[in-house]
Amino acid sequence: MMTTLKENAQKSTILCGNLDGQPIPGIETHKVFIINDKKVLVTAIVDPDLEKKAIHGLQVKEPLPALEQILKTPHDLAVVILHLSDSKARKLIRIVEGLDIAILASQRGTMKESERINGCWLVKNNNHGKTIGYLDWDFTAKAPTATKLINIGKDEYKADQQVANLVSDHEIWLRQHYIEIEKNRKKTDTDLRVPIPYAGSQTCGTCHPQITASWQTTRHAWAYASLQKKCKDYCPDCLPCHVTGSQEHDKQGFRSPTVTPNLFNIQCEECHGPAKEHLKKPNLPYGLKINASSCTICHTTNTDPEFSFEEDLKLVAH
Ligand code: HEC
Ligand code: HEC
Ligand code: HEC
Ligand code: HEC
Repeated sequence: MMTTLKENAQKSTILCGNLDGQPIPGIETHKVFIINDKKVLVTAIVDPDLEKKAIHGLQVKEPLPALEQILKTPHDLAVVILHLSDSKARKLIRIVEGLDIAILASQRGTMKESERINGCWLVKNNNHGKTIGYLDWDFTAKAPTATKLINIGKDEYKADQQVANLVSDHEIWLRQHYIEIEKNRKKTDTDLRVPIPYAGSQTCGTCHPQITASWQTTRHAWAYASLQKKCKDYCPDCLPCHVTGSQEHDKQGFRSPTVTPNLFNIQCEECHGPAKEHLKKPNLPYGLKINASSCTICHTTNTDPEFSFEEDLKLVAH
C-alpha cells in the first residue's frame, strides 16, 4: 500500500494555501512567524494542474482567491512559495496585490538578480541544495537592502539531523511512489509498442572499442549512478538529463526506468543520434552533426552556468 500525502502530513507539517477540504491534519494554509516584533506571513501555492499527477486525491483550488484570502491575515511581510511554472508564477504575481516576496520553488537554478513585479520581489534558489538564499528586508521601503546566495559546503554547515531524517524519509517515500506509477504505466501505456530507434552503447563497443573505453572514463557514462545516490533514479524531474534520448527532450529514446534500462546514462547516441540504421549500414555518414545545442538541452544556464561548448567538448572528446 502506498502512503498518501495526507498520511505523510502526519509526520511533518505541510504548508499549502490552496488545497480544498481543509482543515486536513498536518496541512496548514499559512503560518505567521513573529521575528523582531514583525509578523511574517508565509504560505505556499501549488499548481492546480499538478493535482492530476501527484496530489493523491486532494483537490487543488484556484490560486488567486486562495491567496487573497490568506493575505487578509494581519502581517508586516508576506512571503509566498510558488509551485508553479515560471510563466504561471509571473501571471499570478501580476494580478495579486500585497505580496512582498515570492519564491519560485519548483524550477531549477538561481537568479542573478531578484526581480520586482507589481511590488513583489521574485527570487529563486534551487541549486541542488548548494546555496542558501539570503535577503535583508527594509520594512519602510518594502524592499530588500541586500540579497545574496551563500554557498553551503557540507563541511562548513552540518545537516540538522531531524530535518535530514524528514527529507530522507520523504525521498524514500517519493521514490516508492514513482515506482508504483511505473508499474501501472507498464500495464496501460500503448506507446510502449512503438519501436525505439536507439541501440544502446553496448552494441558500439564491438566496432569502436577505443572510443567506448574513452567514453567510459567520463561522467557521462555514470550519470545514472548520480541519481541513484540521491534516491532519484525514478524521478521524472531528474531522468531526462541523466539518460539517453529522453522523450522529454522530444527524442525517441529513453521512456522510463523499467522500459528502457539500456538507455541509462549519457551514451553515444545522445550526441550522435539513434543508431539502429547505422548498425545496418555502418559505412554511410551518421551522427556527426554535433553543435552547442546538442549539449545545452542538459547543460543549461541553471544546471551548468559555466558551460562552454569549446572547452567542455575537450573534456569529453574522443
Ligand atoms: C542528456 C543530457 C546531456 C547532454 C546532451 C550532454 N551532457 Fe554533459 N553531462 C550531463 C550530465 C548529467 C553530467 C554529469 C554526470 C554526473 O556526474 O552524474 C554531464 C557531465 C559533463 C562533463 C563533465 C565530464 C567529466 O567527466 O568530468 C562535461 C565536460 C560535459 N558533460 C560536456 C558535454 C558536452 C560538450 C556535451 C555536448 C557535446 C554534453 N556534455 C552533452 C548531461 C548531458
Ligand atoms: C536540465 C538537465 C538536468 C536535470 C533536469 C537534472 N540534472 Fe543533474 N546534472 C545535469 C548536468 C548538466 C550536470 C553536470 C553539471 C556539471 O558540470 O557539474 C548534472 C550533474 C548532477 C550531479 C553530479 C554533480 C553534482 O552536482 O553533485 C548530480 C548528483 C545530479 N546532477 C543530480 C540530479 C538530480 C537529483 C536531479 C533531479 C532533482 C537532476 N540532477 C536533474 C543536468 C541535469
Ligand atoms: C557528449 C557527446 C558525445 C558522446 C556521449 C559520444 N560522442 Fe562520439 N563524438 C562526439 C563529437 C563532438 C565528435 C566529433 C564530431 C566531428 O568530428 O564533427 C565525435 C566523434 C565520434 C566518431 C568519429 C570519430 C572519428 O575519428 O571520425 C565516432 C566513431 C564516435 N564519436 C563514436 C562514439 C561512440 C561509440 C560513443 C559511445 C561509446 C560516443 N561517440 C559518445 C560527441 C560524443
Ligand atoms: C558493426 C560495426 C559497427 C558498430 C556495431 C557500430 N559502428 Fe559506428 N561505424 C562503423 C564503421 C565501419 C564506421 C565507418 C568507418 C569509421 O569511421 O570507423 C562507423 C562510423 C561511425 C561514426 C562516424 C560516422 C561518419 O559519418 O563518419 C559514428 C559517429 C559512429 N560510427 C557511431 C557509432 C555508435 C554510436 C555505435 C553504437 C550505437 C556504433 N557506431 C556502432 C561500424 C560500427
